[in-house]
Amino acid sequence: MNDPVQRRIVFGVTGGIAAFKAAELLRLLTGAGATVGVVMTEAATRFITPVTMQALSGHPVFTDLWDDRVGSGMAHIDISRDADLMVVAPASADFLAKLAHGSADDLLSTLCLARDCPLMVAPAMNRQMWEHPATQRNVARLRADGVIILGPDSGAQACGETGMGRMSEPAALSEQILGWFEPKVLDGVRLLLTAGPTFERIDAVRGITNLSSGRMGYAIARAARDAGAHVTLVSGPVAQAVPPGVAIENVVSAQDMLIAVERNLADCDIFVGVAAVADYTPLHPQEQKLKKDARILGIELAPTVDILANVASRANPPFCVGFAAESERLDEFAEAKRRRKNLPLLAANLAQTSIGTETSELVLFDDHGRHVLPHAPKSEQARLLVRHIAQLYSASR
Ligand code: C5P
Repeated sequence: MNDPVQRRIVFGVTGGIAAFKAAELLRLLTGAGATVGVVMTEAATRFITPVTMQALSGHPVFTDLWDDRVGSGMAHIDISRDADLMVVAPASADFLAKLAHGSADDLLSTLCLARDCPLMVAPAMNRQMWEHPATQRNVARLRADGVIILGPDSGAQACGETGMGRMSEPAALSEQILGWFEPKVLDGVRLLLTAGPTFERIDAVRGITNLSSGRMGYAIARAARDAGAHVTLVSGPVAQAVPPGVAIENVVSAQDMLIAVERNLADCDIFVGVAAVADYTPLHPQEQKLKKDARILGIELAPTVDILANVASRANPPFCVGFAAESERLDEFAEAKRRRKNLPLLAANLAQTSIGTETSELVLFDDHGRHVLPHAPKSEQARLLVRHIAQLYSASR
């Protein structure tokens, strides 16, 4: 799907082992449709070549303040003139120090000083360098100056030590960079959502679950966060990475999920039930592993609480959004479900083409009728859904 948001990024790379990750980050940004111009410090070119970055960006790479390839001969101003955002990744300890003091002795630091757009930096350095009071002072100074600091992470470092200072992974960085461009249609809104399957215990090792991957719920959590919402995600057991900036509550059963939702409900403006919650749970889960024998085994199942219907039927409920996966008669069943559960909005899709898949085709049902979202990756559908939620939510207040 074409994205109407123009994203022109100046991508600075400084000298550090993490520079090898800059190539992957660049690929992710250009792959998402951003226009990226790369500027490297002299030290960065010792770790990764400008040829690599040029091939991945499709644009010439600049390293030199005196480069006369830029139109007016004013490289330090021209390169960032039309940029929407500058990103420096990795940003070395030395580069942070220079930025904090407004030093401008090479092309990249000069561009950072002469820019007219926001700046993000992804620090990358050895644990001791990161923890040093001088670096911490510089980072605090940069924050106060409005620079957005991405990471760093904790983990194994190139020097063999383990600790804080590792550059955040390219996937997490690109997510935060691209998310910054999203319209803040849910700015400051508190959004609670459930995602993934639940697991209902039969005995010590067995249970009842379903094929939900959590992809859709996690994509909505990311899209809502990018739209400026404070997001709390109550998640059943999934293999999805927790989106940075999203508060997570991990749960196992439908009952755990209900308790976690109730705990967070007081601080919630919008509730989105995306989870594929089990409708039944074993009435008498066994402590020990059941032994097999030749007889037919019956398991008594008790219905679970419908979390969404329960939330929507409270006095002064949050703005509630439901999901429905139907295997047939989508419109009829979805609209009936929306009315039965008293929801202003319900997103429906066919179970055969949505559960556990990468893409989906949501149809939205609200008081104004039926809206079909184009078939797209779940991340894209999530963004469109969040925009729709934001419209209805603001109109409802
Ligand atoms: O009735 P059905 O299970 O198809 O409704 C699906 C919607 O209800 C989803 O939004 C799902 O998250 C929510 N739900 C729930 N608790 C349940 C069952 C469904 O919140 N026990």
